[in-house]
Amino acid sequence: MTTNTIALNRQRHPLDKDEPVWLFGYGSLIWKADFPFVERREASIQGWSRRFWQGSDDHRGTRASPGRVVTLIEDEGASCKGMAYKVLPDVFAHLDHREKNGYLRFMTTMSFKETEQVQGLIYIAAPDNPAFLGSAPLPEIAAQIARCSGPSGRNDEYLLKLADALRLLGDNDRHVFDIENLLLTECQTG
Ligand code: BEZ
Repeated sequence: MTTNTIALNRQRHPLDKDEPVWLFGYGSLIWKADFPFVERREASIQGWSRRFWQGSDDHRGTRASPGRVVTLIEDEGASCKGMAYKVLPDVFAHLDHREKNGYLRFMTTMSFKETEQVQGLIYIAAPDNPAFLGSAPLPEIAAQIARCSGPSGRNDEYLLKLADALRLLGDNDRHVFDIENLLLTECQTG
């Protein structure tokens, strides 16, 4: 199921090695900044919704039992909060490797405090990538997350850390919080 996007991402956005670039994080990048950054700011993007629709066989699951992680889905009128990092281009070599299973870099406009806007990069796993799982009933998504685990840890830890990070950002993301509630009340993780 793996699709290695490292070479593709390098070609898509040749970057000037000394010029800092804004990167918008909406998933694990919100809480897992395992890279140097010049500046970090809360930000949002318009027209996208976060969904647990991407399969993970390299981080939060395995080939035999893929977990679910977030990607963004086009959604007119929607707003998605996250964390923006100003980084030097070297950081993308690390992130291209970390997020190599189906995520491609795209240019996007991100907003700080509604008025200030900058252009930057974002990683999105589009529906045409082989690891894309797509929509499923929320109880099925919660059950899959409850049972899966991979080299980066348990899939439920990923969900719970994301939900905590979104509460801190004040993003009322019903998709994420409904799955969190199902996981905590019905799946009884231990
Ligand atoms: C993010 O947090 O923006 C992100 C999530 C998955 C892959 C790449 C980036």
